[in-house]
Amino acid sequence: MHETDSGNRALLEESSKYTPGGVHTSIRIIDPPLCIRRAEGAYIWDVDGKRYIDYHAAFAPIILGHCYPAVVERVVDTIRQTDLYGASTTEVELELSKKIVQHVPSVEQVLFACTGSEATFHSVRLARAVTGRRKILKFQGCYHGWHDYLLRNVISPRERVGQTDPGSAGMLDEAIENTIVCTFNDLAEVEATVAKHADEIAGIILEPIPHNIGCVLPKQEFLEGLRRLCDAEGIVLIFDEVITGFRHHIGGYQAICGVSPDITTMGKAIANGFPIAAIGGKRDLMQRFNTRVGGDVFFAGTFNGHASCLAAALATIEMLEGGKVHEHIFRLGERMRAGLKEIIARKGIDAIVTGYGSVYTVYFMGDRPIENFSSLLDNDAAFYIRYRQELMKRGVFELPMNLKRNHVGFSHTEADIDRTLEIADEALTAAMEARAAGECPAAV
Ligand SMILES: Cc1ncc(COP(=O)(O)O)c(C=O)c1O
Repeated sequence: MHETDSGNRALLEESSKYTPGGVHTSIRIIDPPLCIRRAEGAYIWDVDGKRYIDYHAAFAPIILGHCYPAVVERVVDTIRQTDLYGASTTEVELELSKKIVQHVPSVEQVLFACTGSEATFHSVRLARAVTGRRKILKFQGCYHGWHDYLLRNVISPRERVGQTDPGSAGMLDEAIENTIVCTFNDLAEVEATVAKHADEIAGIILEPIPHNIGCVLPKQEFLEGLRRLCDAEGIVLIFDEVITGFRHHIGGYQAICGVSPDITTMGKAIANGFPIAAIGGKRDLMQRFNTRVGGDVFFAGTFNGHASCLAAALATIEMLEGGKVHEHIFRLGERMRAGLKEIIARKGIDAIVTGYGSVYTVYFMGDRPIENFSSLLDNDAAFYIRYRQELMKRGVFELPMNLKRNHVGFSHTEADIDRTLEIADEALTAAMEARAAGECPAAV
């Protein structure tokens, strides 16, 4: 559909000869293909030299901006003198551990991994070890990584909501059966499920704001109710703050809502795009990991605590300290949402603009409360994708897939937001014309 995407298509085709599908993560398959050659601040350039204002932010890690100088310089300085040893610990590991414990309210001890999936995997295994129970409760629409323990019921087709919806072939039946799925924001359902499985549930895991389906805000009483229930039933409460952590507050969403989980998983914005994740929590639980002599919950990773990633995380967290970054990205996030609401109202489109802080999205459906995944089933996926394709044509990159959120970063300026709003106005008109002509493509 792009006149100018020849280089992108050619690179993807060539890559497909060596890599299945040509991409190294399944949800990087997009139409039209976009192959990026370089990036700086709020912008990315594809292999044809076309510039985009980027709100995809690589699925959320980029909070300061691409190739952000303070981060790059710190990484380069660090890896000139240190890298990876695979023995004992380092001063930089200690420095970052102290920062996380200082800022994230519930975290008394922390361990580093490379990806969010590793962090959530370890959180589940730890919950099972400390409770001696097998089952984990998650919520429809939340994504916690690619492993068998939790890869269930994320963006399910309508007919699979309330049913088993494993995310992959080859998953163990036992893992699927031991992962129970409930409805986000429905405390009564969770209470009934816990009662039904008395003494079987090891942990409850949630994204405190389910951003893997855009932005569904939690009811305060839901989060507080989960905390009470977990205390009463001896269940480990796990906040997966891989997206919300650092992006919404340096202390994670828990610092905003005041509800304290037992275990927190972190990643993404912690290091502005460098591959580091963390699991942290109450000291007595963390002490079960066998990084301590006598611990009985296995924890390892060749690349854990690589100096380049630690340096990136330290530089990022130092930028977040003092609140200037969050003030900027929250203000610009609000400017974007307000602008989009105005355009949509003026055009008379059935749509809901929502988000939190730096995150925004537009659901194309009639006004209603958005409480859980089922609230989003009427979102017009074909229109949503077409609108984002029209944005791409005009130089704004929001991932053209259904229910994806967007992220404002510290490098975006008011002028970027205002230009994006002008483009959004045109893109909506074009998408409406395409819909009128019966041209909206099927959902990816
Ligand atoms: C909330 C959440 N948890 C965990 C993960 C898994 O992280 P990773 O892709 O780094 O393994 C993701 C990834 O998108 C996520 O959004």
